[in-house]
Amino acid sequence: MADGKQILIREVAPRDGFQSWPDFVPTEQKLEVIRLLLAAGVREMETTSFVSPKAIPQMRDAAQVLAGVPRGGCTHGPLVPNLKGAALALDSGADKLVVVISVSDAHNLANVRRTVKESLADLKSIFDLARERGKPVAGAMAVAFGCPYQGDVPEDDVYRLAEAYISGGAASIVLADTTGMATPPRVVRLVRGFTRRFAGVPFSLHLHNNRGTAMANLYAALEAGADTFDAALGGIGGCPNVPQAAGNLATEDVVFMLEDMGCDTGIDLMKIIAAAQRLEAILGRTLPGQVMKSGPRDPKLAAAICAAAH
Ligand code: COA
Ligand code: ZN
Repeated sequence: MADGKQILIREVAPRDGFQSWPDFVPTEQKLEVIRLLLAAGVREMETTSFVSPKAIPQMRDAAQVLAGVPRGGCTHGPLVPNLKGAALALDSGADKLVVVISVSDAHNLANVRRTVKESLADLKSIFDLARERGKPVAGAMAVAFGCPYQGDVPEDDVYRLAEAYISGGAASIVLADTTGMATPPRVVRLVRGFTRRFAGVPFSLHLHNNRGTAMANLYAALEAGADTFDAALGGIGGCPNVPQAAGNLATEDVVFMLEDMGCDTGIDLMKIIAAAQRLEAILGRTLPGQVMKSGPRDPKLAAAICAAAH
């Protein structure tokens, strides 16, 4: 048991989930889901992304979403792919920026139409701007555990990108398994390697479940010392620029397991389940989350959840 270990869950459904949903989710419905997440106790969120509306039309309301979220108690960190996105996000009131660069050239070209080197050339101006506005930057690394185009991604390439982020001034790092290629030993190796090289730098694991390994990967990372995880309400999500995109770890599933292990996520399980069920009603399709269907361990509460889910 984990004896009250504090875990930070970075909620990514409003960005990773809504960006990949086939239909545009209306702004007011996005905001309703965000309000439910906040009420359940979410303290950090990728609230939206400031990206080209031609590339990702689902995120074209980024400024309205950020303007509409209730403030206080939660860090709103939208994802940005370039300087233009960083400037728009800061002008729209972002608390933090999450810059994304892929570890492989092949995925970076597919996602943001640039090589890694070209993306890195933008980095200094993004850090300078964020510093000017007093906002922290997280450096997200897509395909850190394997690339759907290139295959294996050398660990040294991960550390090189991390080094560029951290020496540039990144306050934290996101190690992303964008297409669910990780398995527990790979996760343990990268977590240990990262913490050895960059001791004290906070990092999050962003684990997709394409091959059913995401929860096992989370457990392995936890055992290796990780304390921050990305998760998406209902298990929605997926990069639109990869084949076989599939969902994130479901927030309510992660909360269920971690709290039962004795960790403290700060998130109310019943409220996050209710939020996932509301999300499912809004989206009109069965979502991958499990605990939103089976409920918590308490049989009476579980029966109530099952009744609501059917
Ligand atoms: N936000 C809004 N608009 C942006 C933008 C941003 N961050 N970056 C560029 N644009 C606009 C430009 O102003 C330009 O608009 P115009 O055609 O009206 O003049 C247009 O997009 C093209 O700009 P350009 O710099 O040539 O970009 P591109 O076409 O090479 O695309 C990206 C590069 C990075 C903007 C685009 O690929 C993108 O937004 N990718 C995001 C992918 C993503 O979100 N993936 C999932 C998350 S990992
Ligand atoms: Zn993702």
